[in-house]
This record gives sequence, structure tokens and C-alpha cells, in this order.
Amino acid sequence: MPVIAVIGAQWGDEGKGKIVDLLAEKAHLVVRFSGGDNAGHTVVNDYGEFKLHLVPSGIFSRQAVCLLGNGVVINPAVLLDELELLQKNGVDTSKFFISDRAHLIMPYHTLLDGLEEEARAGKAIGTTRKGIGPAFADKVARLGIRVGDLLDSVAFGERLRFILEYKNTVLTKVYGTSPLSFAEIYNTYCQFGERLAPYIRETTVILEEALAQGKKVLLEGAQGTLLDPDFGTYPYTTSSSPMAGEGCLGTGISPLRISQILGVFKGYCTRVGGGPMPTELQDETAVLIRERAHEYGTTTGRPRRCGWFDAVASRFSTRINGFTAAAITRLDVLDILPKLKIGVGYELDGQRIDYFPSNITALARCKPIYEELPGWQAPTSDIRRYDELPAEARKYIKRLEELISCPVHLISVGARREQIIEVEPVL
Ligand code: IMP
Repeated sequence: MPVIAVIGAQWGDEGKGKIVDLLAEKAHLVVRFSGGDNAGHTVVNDYGEFKLHLVPSGIFSRQAVCLLGNGVVINPAVLLDELELLQKNGVDTSKFFISDRAHLIMPYHTLLDGLEEEARAGKAIGTTRKGIGPAFADKVARLGIRVGDLLDSVAFGERLRFILEYKNTVLTKVYGTSPLSFAEIYNTYCQFGERLAPYIRETTVILEEALAQGKKVLLEGAQGTLLDPDFGTYPYTTSSSPMAGEGCLGTGISPLRISQILGVFKGYCTRVGGGPMPTELQDETAVLIRERAHEYGTTTGRPRRCGWFDAVASRFSTRINGFTAAAITRLDVLDILPKLKIGVGYELDGQRIDYFPSNITALARCKPIYEELPGWQAPTSDIRRYDELPAEARKYIKRLEELISCPVHLISVGARREQIIEVEPVL
């Protein structure tokens, strides 16, 4: 009963959607376990090009059941729009279900996300403003409303009234804005509840049955490890864990069940939002990568910061997730570069260090120590076998493998599903 977790190894946007879309062909169950509609998973296949924010990228698979686990925060309006768009494009959504334990993003969450960002002024995190942080904060503060609560309109009304009174005090007294209307939110969310009811399940039962029958389960990560609230560049992080461990907590699967953890790395680095990024480039190579790879946020459209592959951060990511294999994506983006650099260490206050500092002011002072490799300057998008890659590209992959201490099993060379090199079979 293989359970494989697909995890972002950098700052998100590593191309997890494409990998999940591919692996979902062989999976019976695909489960999202963290984040919310801050995620943007681009999938290009026979149905067209989709930018999914909530529905698992496995939705295109003929046989896979897709779940949103308890660890996801759900904006019902976004989810319902996404389902409608998929249905319009002929995608079967009858095998899609959501956990009754998942928390809801409420209108005050999105409002507060924006207000908090503005209050941070020069120290803004650069959130997606989708209400993710405030929703997860309410979850742990025991002020959240869960998907299952929508199934009992009386109890939902009581809970909303109690929470909204508190939220309206914050909105009016702290931020000086107008209060939100109970009736408006209540009516809208009761309608959402009616529309979502057919999808709401005790998803741990579905998972348990699948595992008992030895079925293949794929845990679909969102965001990337360096945005983890504990191990990422805190406070410039997201608010739920994108790491493999959350694959258990955000679904209700025992840690003993996970058999493989696939770390997804881009062949270079990108980051969107604030916070340190040691190998960031500000030169024409950054522009070249951004334009060639269209490195603009899927959710917000913001230009992504681009830089060389950071092996220090990547090794850290491998260690704390326990990756059993790696996928290197977007190798084709590097096809035109005459030389490539890899950050193999940092210089911090005149000393060489080989670890990823927990303190962001220290990380911001880190200057990368680079190793230079020759580029291959040949197209790779049509290559499907590892041994057909140019020698310099294979050398680059081998060096990444050594530096991150993890074997590379998949290499992606383009956006389409078939543009992938399977070095070793996965799943
Ligand atoms: P939030 O998750 O919207 O609160 O944003 C917090 C930080 O995580 C910001 O720097 C965002 O740009 C970043 N972030 C959130 N989701 C993603 C993602 O899917 N890809 C890349 N960055 C993300």
C-alpha cells in the first residue's frame, strides 16, 4: 500500500501540480493536506490548461478519488467556482470530497489579511491576501468554523454570531472599518453549505478503506518547505506546514503509512513575497529566467524573484522532510544559459557556513558561495530518456543529487504532462 507524499522543497511554485497530475494516473486516491487557495497548481493536459487553487491536481485522473483533507482551509466561493469550471470543461468531479473537519475561510479572514498586511507597512509579508493566515490563526485560537458546521444551520448561526461579534470589535476598534453584516454572511454561507453538502464526508474513513485495500495514495503538498512556519524563513512564511509530516496531520493518516516522500525542486530558485533568498539574482539572468519560464504568481500574478539553485537550503529541506527521491522541474528553462551556478555554501560575517540559519537577519546577511558548471545550450524539451540529455545537463543533475543527498527520479522539461523524464519509476 504505497503512500507517496509530493512535497515542495523550496519556496513553493516548484511544479508540484504537474508531478501530481502525472502520478495521479497511477493513484487511487489524491489528497491535499495543507494551505488553501493561496496555492496555484498549473496543470496542462488533454482537458486544457488549468490553474487549480483548491481541487487536487489529481482531478483529471479517470480512477482517482480526490480529497481536500482536514488540514486545508477552504474558501467555499473559490471552491465552487473551480468545480464549475472543471465541470464545464468535461472533467468528472463526482469522485471529489472534502473533509468535514477542514476550516472555512470567512469574509473577515480575507478582509483582515489585507488590513494586517497594510498595518505591517514596510515589513509586509507579501501574503496572497486570501485570508489564509487569519483562518489558520482562528483554527488554533479555537475561533474557527469548520466545513461540517455548515450542515447544521442553527448551530452554525449561533457560532457565527458569537465569533462575528468579536471580529467586528477588532474591525471597528482596531482598524476603524465598518462592521460586517451577520445576515449577509449567514445567508451566503448557508447557500454554500447546501451546494457543498454532497461533497462533505468523514474523509478519514475513505482513506482508511483505501489503505486497507492496498490502494495507492498520493498526498499532494502545497507551497514549499522554506515557507513552513517552523522551518521556513519565519515570519516570512505561510501559516500551515507544507512539509511531509503535515501529510499525516492534515489527512488523518498514520506516519507509519507513508512509504515515499518525493521532494520537488525547480532546477533554479524562485520566491514570491518578502523575506530573504540568498541566491536571488537582480541581473539580466533573473530577467531571462523570469520571462522564459513565465515566473509570475499563479494566484496573484506578481513577478517571482529568481535565482540560482540553493543547495544549502535544499539539503536542509531534504533532511527535515526525509525525501526518499527528488523531482527536478523546469530543466528546459536553463537550456540557453552558457554557464550555471549552484549555491553550495554561505558566507556569514566572514565565515563559511554550510547550514540554513533559522534567524532571518542572519540569513539575509548570508552571501552565497557558488560553484560554476558549464551550460548545455541545447534544447531538452523533446527528450524523454535520461541518457539522451546533453552530457552537461546530466552533470548538472548529478551534482544536484550529490549536494542535496537525494536521488533524482523525475526530471521535467516542459509544462505538458508528457514532458517528463522518468529516471526511476515513481509509484
Ligand atoms: P499566505 O500563505 O497568503 O499567507 O502568504 C505568505 C507567504 O507565502 C507569502 O510570501 C506568499 O507569497 C507565499 N505563498 C503562499 N502560497 C504560495 C504558493 O502557492 N506559492 C508560492 N508562494 C506562496
